[in-house]
Amino acid sequence: MSEHSEIYDRSVAILKLNDKGSYTVPTHGLYPFQWNWDSCLTALGFSHFDEQRAWLEIETLFAHQWEDGMVPHIVFHELDDGYFPGPDVWNTRRVVPTSGITQPPVAGFAVKRLFDRSENREQIADRVKALVKSIDRWHQWFFDCRDPQGEGLVALIHPWESGRDNSIDWDKPFVNVPTDGVQPYTRRDTQHANPAHRPTKDQYDRYLWLVEHFRSLDWDNSILHDNSPFRIVDPGFNAILLRSCAELALLAEELDEPEIAHRNSRWAKRGINALEKLWSSEHSQYVCWDRVAEEQINSASIGGILAVFAPLSQERVTAIVSRLKTIAANSKYLVASHDPTDNRFDSKRYWRGPVWLIVNYMIIDGLQQAGQHQMAASIEHDSQALIAESGFAEYYDPVSAEGCGGDSFTWTAAMMLEFISS
Ligand code: GLC
Repeated sequence: MSEHSEIYDRSVAILKLNDKGSYTVPTHGLYPFQWNWDSCLTALGFSHFDEQRAWLEIETLFAHQWEDGMVPHIVFHELDDGYFPGPDVWNTRRVVPTSGITQPPVAGFAVKRLFDRSENREQIADRVKALVKSIDRWHQWFFDCRDPQGEGLVALIHPWESGRDNSIDWDKPFVNVPTDGVQPYTRRDTQHANPAHRPTKDQYDRYLWLVEHFRSLDWDNSILHDNSPFRIVDPGFNAILLRSCAELALLAEELDEPEIAHRNSRWAKRGINALEKLWSSEHSQYVCWDRVAEEQINSASIGGILAVFAPLSQERVTAIVSRLKTIAANSKYLVASHDPTDNRFDSKRYWRGPVWLIVNYMIIDGLQQAGQHQMAASIEHDSQALIAESGFAEYYDPVSAEGCGGDSFTWTAAMMLEFISS
């Protein structure tokens, strides 16, 4: 108990340290703005000691939703030249500048959970209803702009949208992204964190080529998907969207918004059926689909395990649990962001091997929903052990437990509050 309260206090202190009043930075220095999925998951952490602050975090994000429905991946509330690429590179021409791409839509899930936990349901019902409508518009935007053929699954057009920036999943499709003509630039991330843990220069050139390309198309979301040389259907990303659709449907029902409920429940069901195309029997998990090459990508990354966050069939969940057992046998701490037996695995380089606690949290939640409590408990145990060993890092080496990337990291602290308070 005393150990729990000490770790509770340390987690709360990190959220307060990174709190800018109406939004939270992921960590000072490396990420000095508001990030989309960071904020939604951070709000869950806030809810354990300040419910109003939790709602404000998400409301601030949605105040910057685009007119077409997109919710951007970064909101540049205050100028800070310690981060690259900043607002001038994105040039989305908004009053408060934002990036021009999106991030995993976990808001529907987070808002439902916050409402379930709320002690002030009646007082906040109108505010929540407003958020439900905004989230519904975002979901609609996804299916309109990122699923033009109506397949039921949406594509990413930039690796940063996935939240898994330099995953091995993108190596093959990245060959189609050119690098010529990219404006000269100076990276800032490698000044804040160990360059050996960060994406390579070659990857950065391609990230920037895509940004400059979309900028040249005026950030017009009605044409970006078809004009992008990078179009990937990521199972983890889609699972987050589909789970959010399912949760939003329940919340909309509760708040007497039957049309929103109906639409979102339909999207969830259709998408879960469509996910079958991404199943890999060879890897016993889902894999990404390359919508340009029209083929599966042979890369067994965490995205295909995170799929369990969506309400899948028992057969798929059982197969994913056996996959997790294999991963556990090959790395000390669950869950490595890439298959540890693959020779491309890199235990310290960002999304090419390290453990990320937000992903663990969503996998745990999905397993619990499916009744797989034992595996869920193992992942939670490892998650807490990593913090006990190495503090509140951005991510961790799954073999040595070393903390990597930024320090005093907001969403890591928020996830700890979730683990110890639930
Ligand atoms: C990195 C992560 C991304 C996260 C951001 C801020 O870019 O890959 O998922 O949202 O940092 O923490």
